[in-house]
Amino acid sequence: MEKPDYAKGLEGVIAAESRICYIDGQQGKLYYMGYSIEDLVEQCSFEEIVYLLLYRNLPTGSELDGFSERMRSFRALPEQVKQMIHAFPTGAHPMELLQSVMAYLSSYVQHKIQHSATCNCRDTLHQVAQMATVAATYARYRDGNDYIEPRDDLSHGANFLYMLRGEEPDPDEGEIMDNCLILHAEHGFNASTFTSRVVASTLSTCYSSISAAMGSLYGSLHGGANERVLKMVDAIGDKSKVEKWVDNALSKKQKVMGMGHRVYKAKDPRAKVIEKYLQDLSDRKNNWRDYEILKEIERVFGNRMKDKGKPIYPNVDFFSGALYRLLGIPTILFTPIFAVARVGGWLAHILEQREGNRIYRPKSLYVGKKDLPFVPLEKR
Ligand code: ACO
Repeated sequence: MEKPDYAKGLEGVIAAESRICYIDGQQGKLYYMGYSIEDLVEQCSFEEIVYLLLYRNLPTGSELDGFSERMRSFRALPEQVKQMIHAFPTGAHPMELLQSVMAYLSSYVQHKIQHSATCNCRDTLHQVAQMATVAATYARYRDGNDYIEPRDDLSHGANFLYMLRGEEPDPDEGEIMDNCLILHAEHGFNASTFTSRVVASTLSTCYSSISAAMGSLYGSLHGGANERVLKMVDAIGDKSKVEKWVDNALSKKQKVMGMGHRVYKAKDPRAKVIEKYLQDLSDRKNNWRDYEILKEIERVFGNRMKDKGKPIYPNVDFFSGALYRLLGIPTILFTPIFAVARVGGWLAHILEQREGNRIYRPKSLYVGKKDLPFVPLEKR
C-alpha cells in the first residue's frame, strides 16, 4: 500500500482560525491584532501590549492606567514563592523554576473552567506580572543577594532590570528592555503557543497550559537558541575566526543558532529592531566585539546558504543574547525573559482557543509492526 503523505513538524498545516497574530514570512512583517510590530514597539509599553492581547483592542488612556496599576500591584512575590525559589536545586535551569511556579500559582485561584469553556485569566494578571519577579529573584538568590521589592513607578522592563541589578537602570536601558518584551510577546502558532492551545483545548487550567508552553519554549530549537548563540559567539571569540568556524559547522551539518525560521523567508523584523538596539548599546558602552562577530556570521553563513540555493536569515534570537549581555543580564536568564514576555501571547491564545473549543487530536501514521505472535514471559 502506498504511504499516505503527512506534514512532518506540521509544516504548512492550518490547525485553527486566529485573529491574534499575522506573519508575512516572505516580506518579513509581523502584526499583533492587526498592528505592525514597528508601530507597537515605537509607541506602546509592554503593559499596553498585554492589554491589546487580552482585550483585542488598544486601551484608552484611563483603561491603560487602570490596567497598569492592576498589573503592577501583582508584581511582588508571595512568601511561598520566594521559599520555592530558595529551595530550588542550584543546578536546575530557571525555566524549570518558572514552569513549577506557574503550576503552583494555580493553587491561589478559584478556577472557572471545570464546567465550561470560560476562563478568568484576564483577572489573574499575576501570571504575567510575577514571572519577571521570579526570574530576577532567581538570579539574585543564585548570586547570594536578597529579594528586592518591585517598584510600581517603573515600566515592566525597567522594573525587571531594577530588581535584577538592585539599582534603577538609566531610562534608555529601561525602554530597550520594555521594548524587547514587546517584541517577544506574541508570534502565532509557534511550538510553545501551540502547546498552550493543545493543553487549553482539554479544558485544563490556563496555568497548566502556560506551564506546558514554558516546557516547550525551554528547548534549544525554540526559546533556548539565544543562549546558544552567545555560546557560539564566545567559542568563536573574534571576527577573524568566523569564516573558518562557519565552514567547519557546515561541514559537520551543525545548525548555526539564531539563523533560520520555519515561517520567515526574509530577515525577522524583530531581529532588525533588536539589531538597532544592539548597535546603540555597543556604541554607548564602546564594546563592539559581539556585534562584529554576529554580523560576520550573518554575512558568511548567509552567503554560504545563498550559494546552496537555501537563503537563511537571522531570527529574533540572533542579536538578543548580545544585547542582554550588554544590559548586564546573565545568560541563564535569556530564555526566562522570553517566557516573561510570551505569557501575554499564550494567554491571548488560551482565551481564543476556549471560544468554539474543540480538543486537539491529530493522527499518526503507524509504521510499527502488526500481528506479532505473543511469547509468554517464561519463554522470552
Ligand atoms: N543552520 C544551518 N542550517 C540550517 C539552519 C541553521 N540555523 N536552519 C535551517 N537550516 C537548513 C537545514 O539544515 C535544512 O537543510 P536540508 O534541507 O539540507 O536538510 C534546511 O535549512 C531547512 O531547515 P529545517 O531545519 O527543516 O527548518 P525548520 O523549519 O524545520 O526549522 C528552525 C526551523 C528550527 C528555526 C531551524 O532553522 C533551526 O534549527 N535554527 C537554529 C535554532 C534557532 O535559532 N531557533 C530559534 C528559532 S526562533 C524562535 O523559536 C524564537
